[in-house]
Amino acid sequence: MTTEKRKGSTEMNEPSAPTVRLTGGVELPRLGLGTWPMSGDKAERAVRSALEHGYRSIDTAAAYGNEKAVGRAIASSGLPREDVVVTTKLGNSEHGYGTALRACDRSLDELGLDHIDLYLIHWPMPSVNKYVETWRALIDLREQGRVRAIGVSNFKPAHIDRLVAETGVTPAVNQIELNPYTNRPAEREYHRAQGIVTESWSPLGPRTDLLREPVVTELAEKHGKQPGQVVLRWHMDLGLVATPKSSDAQRIAANIDVFDFSLSADEVTAITALDTGLRTPVDSDKPIGAPPAGIRTTT
Ligand SMILES: NC(=O)c1ccc[n+]([C@@H]2O[C@H](COP(=O)([O-])OP(=O)(O)OC[C@H]3O[C@@H](n4cnc5c(N)ncnc54)[C@H](OP(=O)(O)O)[C@@H]3O)[C@@H](O)[C@H]2O)c1
Repeated sequence: MTTEKRKGSTEMNEPSAPTVRLTGGVELPRLGLGTWPMSGDKAERAVRSALEHGYRSIDTAAAYGNEKAVGRAIASSGLPREDVVVTTKLGNSEHGYGTALRACDRSLDELGLDHIDLYLIHWPMPSVNKYVETWRALIDLREQGRVRAIGVSNFKPAHIDRLVAETGVTPAVNQIELNPYTNRPAEREYHRAQGIVTESWSPLGPRTDLLREPVVTELAEKHGKQPGQVVLRWHMDLGLVATPKSSDAQRIAANIDVFDFSLSADEVTAITALDTGLRTPVDSDKPIGAPPAGIRTTT
């Protein structure tokens, strides 16, 4: 369920994205700032800039090594804590019930917060085969109020089916690689049927030519927008949540300025037709470490 737009353009320090209500009542903005691969002062500056430009959702992870910087930026923003939705993720080496509880404590400590709004299992790590007990830890963390909503990332439908079969609790969100080059209709439909919010990582397509595709540049010209804004609007018009990353203040501002126009059904279809299956070469069913940065392949 999505609430409607509050205003048509970005003004400093005004919330600028509509929200989707997650199980448990968290209102997750449809557009937030991704923070990988930024760290230290760069991450802090980007998060501060995003909050000044109306972002109210920040996506980080234990694996990004920037939770401290994200926490500093939020603390110094002057915004009430309840106005900012903070997502972080449990790392791949932190699977297991007790390990997950301790990982959450560490993230809270790094962020300098007393609760996380949305806590995700970063990857299912089926070779470790502990994602169900890890999920039980997240369920308990939610019950204890240390996290407000729980979800997963990079989970395939079979992984989610197993979570639900063994715990009875469906993730609120699955954050997956999703952009016009890899737009994953089967997973989107599965999520919709299960009441799971689909969140797009690499919404602009990392190191791809997506923003130079003629269909994107022509629509940008037609709508008086930038190519990146057209692609982000495509995510919005498909009902997705997106977390574009930028360290540049102008692009940070532009990326959230997508709520004063929309694409027609035909325009959405034309962008969707760019799907080539082009994506990073990471398979959630295989043992993995950190996701590779911006490597692309066709799978
Ligand atoms: N769950 C997971 O496993 C997972 C994996 C990867 C990423 N993520 C999350 O998703 C976020 C976004 O993914 P991503 O960083 O891979 O890809 P992305 O947000 O689609 O693209 C980021 C790249 O696009 C550039 N960019 C941003 N806005 C632009 C614009 N308006 N026009 C042109 N270029 C623009 C950025 O450069 P500048 O900074 O110079 O603007 C950066 O190089 C990450 O930061 C992270 O929070 C999650």
